[in-house]
Amino acid sequence: SAGQRYEAEDATISQGAAESNHAGYSGTGFVNGDNVVGSYVEFTVNAASAGTATLTLRYANGTSTNRPMTIDVNGTTTTRDFPGTGDWDTWADATFTVSLQAGANTVRATATTANGGPNVDYLDLS
Ligand code: GCU
Repeated sequence: SAGQRYEAEDATISQGAAESNHAGYSGTGFVNGDNVVGSYVEFTVNAASAGTATLTLRYANGTSTNRPMTIDVNGTTTTRDFPGTGDWDTWADATFTVSLQAGANTVRATATTANGGPNVDYLDLS
């Protein structure tokens, strides 16, 4: 339903790990995806009803190189940029307007370059 937070450390992680060695995260940590193409974090987002929703992905990228990821919502894929945030303790919001179905929705964020994705703190549904 609206106003839900999904912590990345509680999501499904492929090629990566939950870590807590940088400050400023929500929950108990964040996900550090491996620095490879294809590492991902996948959330199951529950919507009370079908319709348009805003997702906010909180991330940190302590490098000066963009770390794009594909954002796949129930099989519909877009690619988004995740530019540097200054350091690994500094988090930024990336927002997506998406179409959700009632009930469970799969939202997967997948690194598209050999640098991997940014560190991911959480996904908010509003
Ligand atoms: C550093 C940093 C990690 C980050 C990694 C990366 O090792 O401590 O949190 O994930 O760089 O480049 O992805």
